[in-house]
Amino acid sequence: MALKLLFLVCLMVAVMAAPMAEAQLGIISSLLGLIRIQGTLYCTPNGNMGVNGTSTPVFSNALVQLQCGSGNVVSSATTNSSGIFSIVLDPLHFVLSSLLSDCKLVVSTPLSTCNASLPSAGGLLSSLQFIGNTVLGLLNISNIIPSGFQFLPSL
Ligand SMILES: *[C@@H]1O[C@H](CO)[C@@H](O)[C@H](O)[C@H]1NC(C)=O
Ligand SMILES: *[C@@H]1O[C@H](CO)[C@@H](O)[C@H](O)[C@H]1NC(C)=O
Ligand SMILES: *[C@@H]1O[C@H](CO)[C@@H](O)[C@H](O)[C@H]1NC(C)=O
Ligand SMILES: *[C@@H]1O[C@H](CO)[C@@H](O)[C@H](O)[C@H]1NC(C)=O
Repeated sequence: MALKLLFLVCLMVAVMAAPMAEAQLGIISSLLGLIRIQGTLYCTPNGNMGVNGTSTPVFSNALVQLQCGSGNVVSSATTNSSGIFSIVLDPLHFVLSSLLSDCKLVVSTPLSTCNASLPSAGGLLSSLQFIGNTVLGLLNISNIIPSGFQFLPSL
């Protein structure tokens, strides 16, 4: 008898809790949308992967700035020892479409810091490219990558 009652109570709790959990998840996942700009910087004359593919040396400790409009620095990140940088933005403050059209990545750390034969002035620049959304747990991440760096002799 007690067991039957317990079962009934459990069933009721489960039935009542299910739609609530669903509703809460809906709220949370829409709150935890993120925009992530991530890429790898290589130690080459143009910052991109060289002919040797993944064995191309990387450009670590480089400052990568996200600049929007007429050059406002909106965010920045430093490449780690794998040459990877990652900038995470809150979609409440950034609209994906205007980010893609108005913003660019700028690296002003001289290339000579990773290879003395490369220029000690100028810098790298890339526009942005959206490659899709990834759902990671409760996060819905909009992934952006550099569309390809180019070297500018004066920045
Ligand atoms: C590619 O790898 C070969 C063999 O290790 C090396 O001799 C060559 O300099 C590399 N090329 C570049 C552009 O790094
Ligand atoms: C560099 O950052 C990436 C992305 O955050 C990470 O996956 C990678 O493990 C890091 N590499 C090192 C050597 O810390
Ligand atoms: C340094 O850069 C020069 C010119 O691009 C290149 O020939 C050389 O292989 C690079 N050295 C290393 C260690 O990557
Ligand atoms: C993730 O976010 C994008 C853009 O806001 C949206 O179009 C997409 O439906 C979302 N995906 C999920 C699984 O919520």
